[in-house]
Amino acid sequence: MEVLRVEGLFRDFGGVHAVKDVSFSVEVGERLAIIGPNGAGKTTLLNLLNGQEKVTAGRIYFLGQDITDLPTYRRAHLGQGRSFQLTSLFPNLTVLYNDVLAIQGTKPSRFQLFHPITAYKHIFAKAQELLTAMALWEKRDDLVQALGYGEQRRLEISLSLASKAKLLLLDEPSSGLTADESIEMTNMIRNLGADITVAIVAHDMDLVFGLASRIIVLHYGEIIADGKPEEIQANPRVREIYMGIEEGTGNAGAS
Ligand SMILES: Nc1ncnc2c1ncn2[C@@H]1O[C@H](COP(=O)(O)OP(=O)(O)OP(=O)(O)O)[C@@H](O)[C@H]1O
Ligand SMILES: [Mg+2]
Repeated sequence: MEVLRVEGLFRDFGGVHAVKDVSFSVEVGERLAIIGPNGAGKTTLLNLLNGQEKVTAGRIYFLGQDITDLPTYRRAHLGQGRSFQLTSLFPNLTVLYNDVLAIQGTKPSRFQLFHPITAYKHIFAKAQELLTAMALWEKRDDLVQALGYGEQRRLEISLSLASKAKLLLLDEPSSGLTADESIEMTNMIRNLGADITVAIVAHDMDLVFGLASRIIVLHYGEIIADGKPEEIQANPRVREIYMGIEEGTGNAGAS
């Protein structure tokens, strides 16, 4: 089943085509990595997908529906998980409470203080499941502000999942993480259910090749390659672009 389809997408900033005639579609369960040198248009593309930026031209379809002109919150309601924004965490509340609020947020009613106890049980069970999956259950009573950076990032994913996201859009989820935290993050994203589709922008090639079932390469706003990791690795054009940047560092284009 097709989760996302993009047709002839453009985003101009003055004279610059930050995104230029981009078309692709994503099937449910895919782990899509979007890579490319600095300034290639990766973040702009994600911003177009989640509605933070308006398209200059082209259409975006999510689960068959044309969402090109929908605001971000409407897309979230349809099942698009936010990309990382640490501002969406409540630092003065516990880990568990952050998840409970996110689970509640999927209901049309506001958070109800006097819910029947059965409803709480259901929410609590869901929160336990999500926090366990992100290796945060032990930290459930800690305040978010006391968490490490990597833990906060994992909590972000659990919040996206709490809001029943079907598509996660992640921009550089491992930036600022230690090598170990980055590996842990990769494993967690990989172990998400097959009903969840992930589109991830990353410079970290260990993360990209450890995770992606498919890779799209952007260069000056255009897709110059789209295929399986081994195809991308063997692609002469991609090698040419990454040569020089990657040599010796193993970390293409990281700034
Ligand atoms: N709000 C903006 N106003 C003007 N130009 C912008 C704006 N946002 C992005 N651009 C330009 O669009 C191009 C693509 O930028 P974008 O941030 O999408 O690249 P990126 O692939 O995410 O880069 P990086 O790997 O450094 O994060 C760049 O030339 C950038 O300078
Ligand atoms: Mg970027």
